[in-house]
Amino acid sequence: MSETAPLKRLYIKTYGCQMNVYDSERMADVLAPLGYGMTDSPEGADLVVLNTCHIREKATEKVYSELGQIKRLKETKRAEGGAMTIAVAGCVAQAEGEEILRRQPAVDLVVGPQAYHQLPELIARAHRARGERLAAAFAPEEKFDALSVERRPTGVTAFLTVQEGCDKFCTFCVVPYTRGGEWSRPAETIEAEARSLAEKGVREVTLLGQNVNAYAGEGGLAGLVRRLATIPGLDRIRYTTSHPRDMDEALIAAHAEVEALMPYLHLPVQAGSDRILKAMNRAHTADSYLRLIEKIRAARPDIAISGDFIVGFPGERDADFEATLQLVREVGHASAFSFKYSRRPGTPAAAMPGQVAEEVKDERLARLNALLDEQRLAFNAAQVGRTLPVLFEKLGRHPGQIIGRSPYLQSVHVAAPDRLIGEIVPVRIESSASNSLAGALDLETV
Ligand code: SAH
Ligand code: SF4
Ligand code: F3S
Repeated sequence: MSETAPLKRLYIKTYGCQMNVYDSERMADVLAPLGYGMTDSPEGADLVVLNTCHIREKATEKVYSELGQIKRLKETKRAEGGAMTIAVAGCVAQAEGEEILRRQPAVDLVVGPQAYHQLPELIARAHRARGERLAAAFAPEEKFDALSVERRPTGVTAFLTVQEGCDKFCTFCVVPYTRGGEWSRPAETIEAEARSLAEKGVREVTLLGQNVNAYAGEGGLAGLVRRLATIPGLDRIRYTTSHPRDMDEALIAAHAEVEALMPYLHLPVQAGSDRILKAMNRAHTADSYLRLIEKIRAARPDIAISGDFIVGFPGERDADFEATLQLVREVGHASAFSFKYSRRPGTPAAAMPGQVAEEVKDERLARLNALLDEQRLAFNAAQVGRTLPVLFEKLGRHPGQIIGRSPYLQSVHVAAPDRLIGEIVPVRIESSASNSLAGALDLETV
């Protein structure tokens, strides 16, 4: 379509993990040639896409309440003689499919995470109003073949999906059902996409996968990191999310040797009780996790460790929860995410005996969060007095202030000229708070 095609307004709302953020960008990419340009409000939009998450019950319910509101906007637009197309994408689309169309008839089409490259075709069909409103096949290779490796990044950092799906089947989790089995993109196309990003000013990529360190392309994840580290301009590489089972020697060695690989590792452990870990089907114990962390720290002593935790898994007793607190104390986290167990229909844990009362989950979550907050504060405070290289990403809220990230993924606020956005600059850290650091440029840099 020509550059002068009339601009249709596309609104995408993204829920869930970073892979959904990546997928939303790619949806915008496949729709751009049809004349769709992004808008930041659903009001009056020609196409509304909700890119959804199914991980916990709350995430799923949010989608239905949002759909109720979008439906009203669709009616308003119709009353004014216009038309709005509503698409539900992402993991709820995959998991609930037809059910979405039944629960909210205003939805025009439902497209799973491996089928969004078909959006142009699906939209055309919806406009002709003839059937087939659901696309939810598992064929990641087809999707990536259909997507261009050319990217249109909007900033100096970008996500890049290298692996999708999960074969681990943790008993609480829907991801193996919504994203399908583990599949890795070929290293060449990943490199091409990374080069396209770097040429357009991206300085940092975060490689994404539901089990990114299970990357099975040439050279494994360690080989991929080394390969991408040679791309001119690409100075920082991160990856997420990893499973402890796939943290191999080569990747640990890369942390010691590859300068571009940032010293930050999100390595969810979920719980500290071996009995619970076994019931979760995690394939690691508390002790094997701790030994792994020791090995990683031997290779890269300053690495910041992050993780995910679930409290109130079925059968979790006080002593099990205490074991989680104990493990947290031993690891020392730079950051972490903690969740109350959410019963997901169709997963093995949903049918397990010993479901934990909501009040008990609340109380455990509060205690775990207090400990994790303390650790995050301490990690941030430990940076005060150090000089850290900061990649500046955007303007701050206050005039004259810009915001970037430390190697450990902390937000750093600095009074500095905005021409430094996109640069990696040494910053003397002067103070810390629970979610950010503040510092000053070395005088020679300005
Ligand atoms: N693939 C990644 C991300 C999975 S989802 C991984 O393996 O880590 C992100 C986090 O959500 C998980 O690590 C887990 O802590 C949490 N989670 C998954 N299912 C959940 C459930 N049913 N209830 C509560 N938290 C859940
Ligand atoms: Fe879910 Fe476990 Fe797979 Fe992570 S490893 S996506 S928690 S099943
Ligand atoms: Fe949610 Fe799907 Fe990501 S369930 S966490 S959007 S993989």
